[in-house]
Amino acid sequence: MATIQVRFNEGASRDYKIEIKPNLIKEIPAYLKKHQFADRYVIITDSKVSKLYGQSLQKNLTASGIKSFLLTFPAGEKQKTLSTAEKLINKMLKLQISRSDAIIALGGGVVGDLAGFVASTYMRGIRVIQAPTTLLAMVDASIGGKTGVNVDAGKNLLGTFYQPQAVLIDPNMLKTLPSDEWENGFAEIIKYSIITKSPLFRLLNGHSLAELKTKKNLLNKIIIQCCQIKASIISKDETENELRMVLNYGHTIGHALEKYFNYSISHGKAVAIGMKFINSMAVNLDQLNKNDQNRIQKLISKYVNTSKFEQKIHTKKVYQKIWHYMQNDKKVRKSKIYFIVPKSIGHVDIQNTITKQNFLDVLPSFINE
Ligand SMILES: NC(=O)c1ccc[n+]([C@@H]2O[C@H](COP(=O)([O-])OP(=O)(O)OC[C@H]3O[C@@H](n4cnc5c(N)ncnc54)[C@H](O)[C@@H]3O)[C@@H](O)[C@H]2O)c1
Ligand SMILES: [Zn+2]
Repeated sequence: MATIQVRFNEGASRDYKIEIKPNLIKEIPAYLKKHQFADRYVIITDSKVSKLYGQSLQKNLTASGIKSFLLTFPAGEKQKTLSTAEKLINKMLKLQISRSDAIIALGGGVVGDLAGFVASTYMRGIRVIQAPTTLLAMVDASIGGKTGVNVDAGKNLLGTFYQPQAVLIDPNMLKTLPSDEWENGFAEIIKYSIITKSPLFRLLNGHSLAELKTKKNLLNKIIIQCCQIKASIISKDETENELRMVLNYGHTIGHALEKYFNYSISHGKAVAIGMKFINSMAVNLDQLNKNDQNRIQKLISKYVNTSKFEQKIHTKKVYQKIWHYMQNDKKVRKSKIYFIVPKSIGHVDIQNTITKQNFLDVLPSFINE
């Protein structure tokens, strides 16, 4: 239905396609045969997705004469660790997976990040194909080649940039997605609607999550738009020198919140709260007008319910902890934390002058809400 090309400066060798098509999962065997990415495939997936789609994918591959293995780990962000990666690597070594084989990362962002990390390090790198199954992974995590695991000090602090061979998106797989996971996906979609000028903000404003779940054509259009935005950004700045940083709107605070809640808060909801935080800071600093702030907060609240977690954070003590966790963020350079500050809807700025006091000053605005 749609093909988006991700292109890098140095020529075609690492360019790849994002394919978006309902029921694409059924066509994966034919796609792999056509493109000949590898001799054999290791499907890496989590315990939930394995039952829903992994086992049948493997069956279909076998039926098409393609040799594959299915490796599964327990679902959830808490599994995105070096220890899970090591277990997967040991299983692959036992299976004698070689550099002529490839990985299919079938699952949400946790699977994508972890399987991508394994692919990039296993025997110094074997090929990987991303097959995202959550909305969040379809619009964001599967594209751009960021891989990683969480370590004690914080989120995604160990990882690589490692581009996939292809990203295969089948929006029909969303039919089994739990409602919380829809909200997580929409948090990232709202992010795109603020960081660049696009029709997304209006489109999201004019609909609701319940509507978009059923209006498949519209939802597919949204997925395509998000993939186009991300593909265009990462093509220009693959390794996050500057431009790519805009994709981290809401994420500096979001990642610290994930750590604070010991990953019991989902990535999407943490990012939604992170966006609200930075918006309030931007208003305090006279960088964003109150009207735009209200419009963004309203849109976030319409799609993502964060109240359960927000009730627990608006105290000075928690804010100090969150600030402390932010010191470990990957966006800290020369001891300065980089924030993506919204200036208006469709325009953000990268800044490193926000102080701890600016951050603590946000507290009253949330308490009075
Ligand atoms: N690499 C990147 O650029 C990037 C970008 C954004 C987020 N991320 C990472 O992505 C992760 C979050 O990803 P996520 O929100 O997809 O979480 P996830 O991978 O944990 O998936 C959420 C849950 O949905 C289940 N699930 C997946 N697909 C399903 C389906 N089709 N039907 C039913 N259940 C399904 C999973 O088993 C899991 O329980 C975080 O670790 C975040 O850091 C990475
Ligand atoms: Zn994110």
